[in-house]
Amino acid sequence: MTKIREAWGSRFGFILAAAGSAVGLGNIWKFPYIAGENGGAAFIFIYLVCIAIIGFPVLIAEVLIGRTTQRNPVGAFSALAKSKLWVSVGFLGVIAGFMILSFYSVIGGWTLGYVVETLKGSLSNFQSPDEAGTLFGSLVGNVSWGLGFHTLFFAMVMGIVIRGVQGGIERSSKIMMPILVSILVILIIRGVTLDGASEGLAFLWVPDWSKINGQAILIALGHAFFTLSLGMGAMLTYGSYMSKKDSVISSSAQIVFLDTLIAIMAGVAIFTAVFASGLDPAAGPGLIFQTLPAVFSTMPGGTYFSFLFFLLLAIAALTSAISLLEVVVAYFVDEKGWNRKGAVLIFGGSIFLLGVPSALSFNLLADAKIFDKTFFDVVDFLASNVLLPFGGLMIAVFVGWIWSTTAVLEAVKEGAEELFESYPWFEGIWMLFLKFVAPILITLVLLNSLGIV
Ligand code: PFF
Repeated sequence: MTKIREAWGSRFGFILAAAGSAVGLGNIWKFPYIAGENGGAAFIFIYLVCIAIIGFPVLIAEVLIGRTTQRNPVGAFSALAKSKLWVSVGFLGVIAGFMILSFYSVIGGWTLGYVVETLKGSLSNFQSPDEAGTLFGSLVGNVSWGLGFHTLFFAMVMGIVIRGVQGGIERSSKIMMPILVSILVILIIRGVTLDGASEGLAFLWVPDWSKINGQAILIALGHAFFTLSLGMGAMLTYGSYMSKKDSVISSSAQIVFLDTLIAIMAGVAIFTAVFASGLDPAAGPGLIFQTLPAVFSTMPGGTYFSFLFFLLLAIAALTSAISLLEVVVAYFVDEKGWNRKGAVLIFGGSIFLLGVPSALSFNLLADAKIFDKTFFDVVDFLASNVLLPFGGLMIAVFVGWIWSTTAVLEAVKEGAEELFESYPWFEGIWMLFLKFVAPILITLVLLNSLGIV
């Protein structure tokens, strides 16, 4: 008997779940600080170009592979390609899902921890970011705090994924995404009404081109991948539950739009507040956990805003983490005949365990270095800077060069007939970006990640 494969309940549900995957720590934690370090507006402009010319075409390609085959990354490549080489690209995706989730959950745990610390009142009354930094160091340096919140975050991720595509992922995204957007709107209103907010806005809108160099461009390009969850099969897997009646192009455009909008909104909320308090916008990775708590403690009603902000971060992290677990679960369900519950418990449990040394990288294992990096940094670097760009490159090459162009165009037009009739030039441009622009630029990012250029 063939089992009926799970599917989204509606197109809207798919868009929210996929936007939930894309909008994560990358948008709210990482994007503001890399924009802050690399000169604000000019960097944002370059990032937007990368999203448009690489992120969007590769996202369409990835969702299309999933929708056409209705399989996980490994099954999808074995259905479309003869060579084992392509099947191993699917495998690398599943491995990247394993690795990214293991450390993502550690930071996800911190966001939950900060929600709790705000409620306990420990995040108020800072006189300077240094004081907030000391608290941050003592929290993440505490073994049971780090491990405890990693465990709590992971339990939430497993609790959602175990309920299935419609009942777990889609349903929770429909609840969490509107909350996320509402919180962001509240924080923006608070930010732009502060005295001195206009300097923060100028930082975001007025470009300073002198800060842009090759390195900044490569950071923007690498981040375009991470933020759209591209290159490891998460969007492929979500696309595999999509109906052939819906357009891959307009769905991908909506996902890109929501992800970019939310990153910019997070930038506005954060930089108006940081500038209004006269603090450093280029504080790096600590911007969120050290500078912001100091900003909130100077604001009237700061505790409420701090609570809302870390809740926002936790929700964003959760809706992304579930997509990472789903890649691994879909593989075992489709290919190995596991039931969902068993796959979530066994493989979710294993990923949780792999996250333990990452959680301990900030305390017990802080001095255990591999090539001068902690365990957390090694897993993050390999997955985000090597496996994701490599997977993205392979997806562009596969759809651009290996899969027959006639079949690709037939597949992409399904559900999007009107769009191709109104804009007949679209297919030529998309193919041009997939065949040439994306592979060349991604190769550069990859070589840069490996220290070669
Ligand atoms: N897009 C997520 C973020 O911006 O935080 C991170 C991510 C999720 C990357 C899922 C890859 C992935 F498959």
